Amino acid sequence: LHDTADLGGPREADPVVTGAVDRLAGLVNGLLAPAGVMVARAAPSQAESWRAEIGGRYRSDREVIALARRTGLSVSDYLERQWGNPGRRAGILARMQSAGALGPHMRTVCEIGPGSGGYIQDITRAFTPEWYEIYEIEAQRARWLGQEYPVTVRETEGEALSGTDDAAINLVHAHGVFASLKVISCFTYFDEISRVTAPGGHVCFDIIDDDCLSDDAITRYLAGPLRYLQFMSRQLVEAFFKARGFALVESFRTPLLVSGESTYLIFRKRDG
Ligand SMILES: C[S@@+](CC[C@H](N)C(=O)[O-])C[C@H]1O[C@@H](n2cnc3c(N)ncnc32)[C@H](O)[C@@H]1O
Repeated sequence: LHDTADLGGPREADPVVTGAVDRLAGLVNGLLAPAGVMVARAAPSQAESWRAEIGGRYRSDREVIALARRTGLSVSDYLERQWGNPGRRAGILARMQSAGALGPHMRTVCEIGPGSGGYIQDITRAFTPEWYEIYEIEAQRARWLGQEYPVTVRETEGEALSGTDDAAINLVHAHGVFASLKVISCFTYFDEISRVTAPGGHVCFDIIDDDCLSDDAITRYLAGPLRYLQFMSRQLVEAFFKARGFALVESFRTPLLVSGESTYLIFRKRDG
């Protein structure tokens, strides 16, 4: 299966690999796909391009969950292994912790687009926050997460944090979400994030900025089928949060789970 994590492009069908690759289709088309591309607003040509790359038919979240169960792993750990990237999430969480964004002080957490729930899994295990709420656009996925983990599922239409009070949250975070959302949706969320973050609280998310898009990287994107990419100006994001009382405390670049790279930004909101 490790071979199937190599996204070098469409390949000849090998019967053994095809079965494995086919199973991987669901990982991208389901739990990992940016909803705005694959599920909610996908142009057929884009959806087909994902399938060509992954090599299989669409599989629902339900099927992916069943596949993970058979391995005895959580869905998120299963996905990291399938893509040849075990430990990626742990590395990101370690950076969040050393930046002060994670710790026993963190009583309330809000996550946007939790997907297969890997960050929920690790954070609730390690820190048992009193409150962990999620805004996940895929309603069935959100329901499943609510059954699987100790989280409160908030209703969402994909841009606002309407269920959350002002200054209520110690950590607001999102992973692999703003890499695919339209700029206006990102800034609508950023405005909301700024509203709900408590004084002294942290915000952590990743974007695809200049640092992630060298000429080589663009050439690779052009040669491949992935079409979710959304560019975001780091300078603009930093200025936006600074103007709302946040300071940047950490930033780092890291590979995305499937392909490409993103830049993580961690902000702290000034004390009361
Ligand atoms: C690429 S996946 C990343 C999943 C997870 N955060 C991770 O890093 O493994 C993006 C997730 O965000 C969700 N999503 C996409 N657009 C969203 C939006 N506008 N609001 C909330 N969730 C969204 C998708 O349904 C999907 O579960």
